[in-house]
Amino acid sequence: MEKLIIEGPSKLKGTVEISGSKNSSLPILAATALFGEEYTIKNVPRISDVHTMLLLLETLGAEFSFYSNDVHIDTRKISKWEAPYDLVKTMRASVVIWGALLGRFGKAKISLPGGCAIGDRPVDQHLKGFRALGHDTEIVSGYLESFTSNNTGGSYRFEIKTVTGTENLILASIFAKSETVLYNCASEPEVLDLINFLSSLGAKITKTGGTIKIVPVSSLSKQNEPYCVIPDRIEAGTFLALASLPGNDIEITKCAPDDLVSAIEAAEGVGSVVKLGDNSISTHPADDLNSISLDTGPYPLFPTDLQAQFMSVLILAGGTSKIVENVFPNRFIHVAELRKLGAKISLDANIASIVGVRGLTRASMQASDLRASASLLIGALSASGRSEIHRVYHLDRGYESIDNKLESLGAKIWRKNE
Ligand code: EPU
Repeated sequence: MEKLIIEGPSKLKGTVEISGSKNSSLPILAATALFGEEYTIKNVPRISDVHTMLLLLETLGAEFSFYSNDVHIDTRKISKWEAPYDLVKTMRASVVIWGALLGRFGKAKISLPGGCAIGDRPVDQHLKGFRALGHDTEIVSGYLESFTSNNTGGSYRFEIKTVTGTENLILASIFAKSETVLYNCASEPEVLDLINFLSSLGAKITKTGGTIKIVPVSSLSKQNEPYCVIPDRIEAGTFLALASLPGNDIEITKCAPDDLVSAIEAAEGVGSVVKLGDNSISTHPADDLNSISLDTGPYPLFPTDLQAQFMSVLILAGGTSKIVENVFPNRFIHVAELRKLGAKISLDANIASIVGVRGLTRASMQASDLRASASLLIGALSASGRSEIHRVYHLDRGYESIDNKLESLGAKIWRKNE
């Protein structure tokens, strides 16, 4: 296992390029299983979650190569429809294979995904939605076993907006017998990216607000040109949090500012002057940060996936800030670790109150999940002295070369085996 060592405080200066989106790449790669063909997907980040998805597809029978950020995948020989416990346990997002396998084979067996460090994560909406569209599921020995009836299609209204739930139902409906209409769908840019990928292959999907209509097709077409995944808005937002800290001077490039409106508002709220280009964001941080209130919610509201990183900014803001976590109410596992740096944070159910302090001091911290790890990294970069972050594999699940990117901005950061 590796740990990260960070010598702070760091003043970061320069340009950082954003990688392709993790949460787009995963469903798009899963979608290649829906119809046996050869696909090229570009701008795929080299992160461990992508490797896990490729391993899952290989276990099912796909063949792939992954050079630079291009995945070439041949899914014609996929013949299995089971996502095993070992892979689903490693990466909860493996559940997006469920809809693709149901769509292709009319059956799928998925290890029941449990909770994880960010809380209890039910899949009841996937199940109810599949059932409404003609796919029944039984739970057998820890596995969800789904079977498709002769009568697929229809409508389903999500009781709660769910990103992978929406993606699964779309995937299962492309080859349905009749039209499908899904209401109250998630509108995250990653859902749109999946729709764009499927549409580029001839799927007939229209999205109007939270309603998605799928007119079934009997097959998909061969890919005419490679599909390029959108930039990772959460990686960009993580660097935006860093760029909002006094003394830093960071230009974020190869990103999609339109996908980051609420995060940009948060950066401006703490006092940054933010300048937007077509694909770039430059930030001039304030010398003294303002306190703000943030409420997480489904897109376009402030993303839960940036809550922890912005908390690491607010711990240094004057006055008291408040964060209300509405998506995963227990997603505060980073709080205890940030307190080790001297942060003053109190928790009351899903609300964190943060009283800004003037400075942070070094600590040895434990990463617990992907975004929490990023917040510890931001905290450590602001703290004086040598901090350590253990279990860095959590960070490697979703950030491509983050230590190299930070080093090129001037951070003193390195890895050590432990
Ligand atoms: N929910 C239910 N029932 C369901 C599904 C979801 O109650 O059947 C609830 C969840 O418990 C949560 C809310 O609905 O309270 C939203 O969860 P959602 O299903 O949207 O989350 P997800 O699809 O499992 C994706 C991202 C997460 C991100 C969430 C929220 C992927 C692969 N994962 O997860 O990303 O936090 O949406 O935006 O797209 C990350 O990248 O670090 C990450 C955790």
